Amino acid sequence: MKNIYSNIYSLDKNVLKKTVKSLGQGNIVSLPTETVYGLAGNAYSKKAIQKIFKLKKRPLINPLIVHYYNLNSTKNDVVFNKYFLKLYKYFCPGPITFILKKNRNSKIQSLTTANLKTVAIRFPNHKITRKILKFSKFPLAMPSANLSSGLSPVNALDVYDEFNKKLKIIINGGNSKIGIESTVIDLSGDPKILRPGLISAKDIKNCLKINLSKKKSAIKSPGMLNKHYSPGIPVIMGTKPSNQKYAYMIFGKRYVRKKNYFYLSKKGDLKEAAANLYKIMRKIKKKGFKKIFVSKIPNIGLGVAINDRLLRASR
Ligand code: TXA
Ligand code: MG
Repeated sequence: MKNIYSNIYSLDKNVLKKTVKSLGQGNIVSLPTETVYGLAGNAYSKKAIQKIFKLKKRPLINPLIVHYYNLNSTKNDVVFNKYFLKLYKYFCPGPITFILKKNRNSKIQSLTTANLKTVAIRFPNHKITRKILKFSKFPLAMPSANLSSGLSPVNALDVYDEFNKKLKIIINGGNSKIGIESTVIDLSGDPKILRPGLISAKDIKNCLKINLSKKKSAIKSPGMLNKHYSPGIPVIMGTKPSNQKYAYMIFGKRYVRKKNYFYLSKKGDLKEAAANLYKIMRKIKKKGFKKIFVSKIPNIGLGVAINDRLLRASR
């Protein structure tokens, strides 16, 4: 069914057919996931991957995550190892991305992986996107559906904000429940977290029963290098603003009503704060505030991932 934004659709049988067909023709569509919304294209098609990089204005050196329906559908593309199989069993489908060695016979376009010998794969846990993956004959390269270095979208209207009518199909799957991107773990050598997320280092250690490597990785995850996850205005961490022109994003229990105060979670709940993070930053920017100050956020559990994104936004 169409709504007032003529390219935003709810999924029904016809839309499912149309979306799978469009992906098969090398087009790009936006899909919901439990973490953030993505910009999806056939990972085996050079034409589709070129379109993704162009739409996002993403540097070609920054590789994309390839999304699959299940383990079986990955077997020609990646080299399995015991850590991957254990984590898959425990957490998938779910908000975790694995860096694995690419299989020699893999059909994944080298542009998708920025010519690396490794590939990032993920099994998203969203009913709609799982349906689309199940009916597609190829995996989907799917970066977050935002212009490079900006905030990830957490609902269909955010995606519309970023790309307007440049996308023919945006599938509406409600608000992304987690609201922050997947945990990225490199399993091509000693297991090492490259990007923190809802699934924490502790969760992974408990599952694998090993300590994670803290060594600097030879492969750089470009998302970790430059300014990223930025609302487009300066972000200042750990202090209060001195001026009403500046927004204050607050995590904590004491509630004060002020026009420039925005609460990540009044209950002091990190899950709620993560789900609100990008939504609130987008809102603050739209309201015309010139800077965002952020109160201290505890660096435990999901707080590690929230602080990671804020730190990159503040560079
Ligand atoms: O939650 C998510 O992961 C979302 C949803 C849409 O699935 N996707 C997402 O994709 O966040 P993107 O492209 O915005 O971030 C992917 C990150 C980047 O930092 C990229 O550098 C890293 O994964 N990456 C991809 N392939 C890699 C590889 N072979 N080695 C190291 N890092 C890689
Ligand atoms: Mg991104």
